[in-house]
Amino acid sequence: MKFRVELAEESGFCFGVKRAIELARATTAREGTAYSLGPIIHNPQEVARLTRGGVRVVDSLDEVPEGAPLIIRSHGATPEVFDEARRRGLAIVDATCLLVKRAQERAGELAEGGYRVVVVGEAHHPEVQAIVEYARGAVVLEDGGDLEALRTARRIGVVAQTTQSPGDYRQVLGRLLALEFSELRVYNTVCRATLQRQRAAGALAQRADVMIVVGGRNSDNTRRLAEFCGGEGVPTYRIETAADLEPGGGGGAGSGGTRGRGGVTGGASTPDWVIEEVVAQLCRMGGSFSETQPGQRRGEEIQ
Ligand code: F3S
Repeated sequence: MKFRVELAEESGFCFGVKRAIELARATTAREGTAYSLGPIIHNPQEVARLTRGGVRVVDSLDEVPEGAPLIIRSHGATPEVFDEARRRGLAIVDATCLLVKRAQERAGELAEGGYRVVVVGEAHHPEVQAIVEYARGAVVLEDGGDLEALRTARRIGVVAQTTQSPGDYRQVLGRLLALEFSELRVYNTVCRATLQRQRAAGALAQRADVMIVVGGRNSDNTRRLAEFCGGEGVPTYRIETAADLEPGGGGGAGSGGTRGRGGVTGGASTPDWVIEEVVAQLCRMGGSFSETQPGQRRGEEIQ
C-alpha cells in the first residue's frame, strides 16, 4: 500500500526543552553526574538517553549528595525547593523555561497586588504546582472545574499553564466572566511554541487522512496536541515510538490507518530522533516522505 507521509511544519522540541537538555548535557560533561528532581522532560526515551549520559532522576532532595549539581527542569520548581537546595549546598542548574518563569512572576505579582489568583491548567502538573506556590495558594481551574472557591472574590487575577490550549483557556475565562467580581485581570501565559505546534498540526490535519502524534505517554502537551488533531475530525493515533506502528504495537496506527496522506507531528517534549524513527518506519511500511525534515523547520521566536 502506497501513501504519502507529511511532517507538521512545527513539531518536536521547543526552545525551552532544548535549553534544559543542553544545560543537563553541559553539566554532566563537566561534573560527570547531575541530579534532576523528577524527569527533565516527559519523554521516557530522551530521559533514558540522558540517564546514560549521567543524569540521575530523583524523587527527593534527600537523594542528592551535598554539593552535587541539581538540575531544575523546564517545568520549574517551587520556591521551597530552591530554598532547600541552597540550604543543602547543592549546585543549582536552573533550566526553568523563561516562559514558565514569566508565568510564575505574573502569578506572584497578582498575589502581591491583592488579587485572588487563578491558574488555568492541570492541577497534577509540576509546572502548575510550582506556579501555585509563587502565588501563595492560588486556585487551580481545570476545564469545567468548580468555581465555588471564587464566588466571594472581588479582584481575580488569571494566568494559564504555558501548554494550555488557547480554546480551553478562553472557555474557562468565559465562565469566570459570570462571577460577581469588581476586577478581572488576565495574562496570556500560553507559550508560542505550544500555539505554533497546535496551528501546524491543525493545518496538516485538515489535509491528512490520518494523523500520528508522537510523544511520551506521560506528556500533557502531546495529549493536548492529539486532542487538537482529533478535534479536526481526522482519525488520530497517539504513539510513543516507531515500535507502536508495528502490527500489534501500542498505538494501533499500523493497521488500516495509513491510506492516502499520513500526517506526523510531535509534542514539545518529543525529540527529533524519535520523530525521525517514526517517519522512517512509515516509509518502510510503504510511505513516501519528501516534505520538510525534522530539524530543518522554521526557527522559533521567544514571545
Ligand atoms: Fe517553554 Fe513553551 Fe517549551 S513554556 S518549555 S517553550 S512548551
